[in-house]
Amino acid sequence: MSKIAIAPTVIQELNRQLNHELGAAHAYQALSIWCAVRNFTGFASFFAKQAGEEREHAGKIIDHLVDRGVTPELAALPAPRQNLASLLDAALQAQAMEEANTRGINAVFEAALAAKDYPAQVLMHWFINEQVEEEAWCAEMVDRVKAASCAGSLSDLDRHIERHLADDEKA
Ligand SMILES: [Fe+2]
Ligand SMILES: [Fe+2]
Repeated sequence: MSKIAIAPTVIQELNRQLNHELGAAHAYQALSIWCAVRNFTGFASFFAKQAGEEREHAGKIIDHLVDRGVTPELAALPAPRQNLASLLDAALQAQAMEEANTRGINAVFEAALAAKDYPAQVLMHWFINEQVEEEAWCAEMVDRVKAASCAGSLSDLDRHIERHLADDEKA
């Protein structure tokens, strides 16, 4: 196995971020369950897909560390919020999570810059770009849920939410 030297500060940040991505997967699963129980099947499916994507994000960081001879350390995941008040609360929760995730990715990138760690910088370029899309669909989702105030328009939105947000998803 080839080993490119990696600074402890970068290892620590990548480890923190991969656990953060796993925590996001856990939290999206909770949002999916909340929606499924209330027959928002479109939102449930969309959030379940997001959970899968967050696990893939963790996997990208895990692969990077393994390729560099570092054993990723998995932490205990915090219990996700499940006592949501409304679909808008769920959408705002997703938005807050993505904003926190962007801050985490920026912190990894800053550590990689300080350590002149070019491979980790390039890895983070993908994540930085991904967060632009993630924040865009969150903002659209929040706007659309806010606009759908009555029960009828919420269930209509639920039927179409995956298609609406698909444009903002990566290919
Ligand atoms: Fe992610
Ligand atoms: Fe995300």
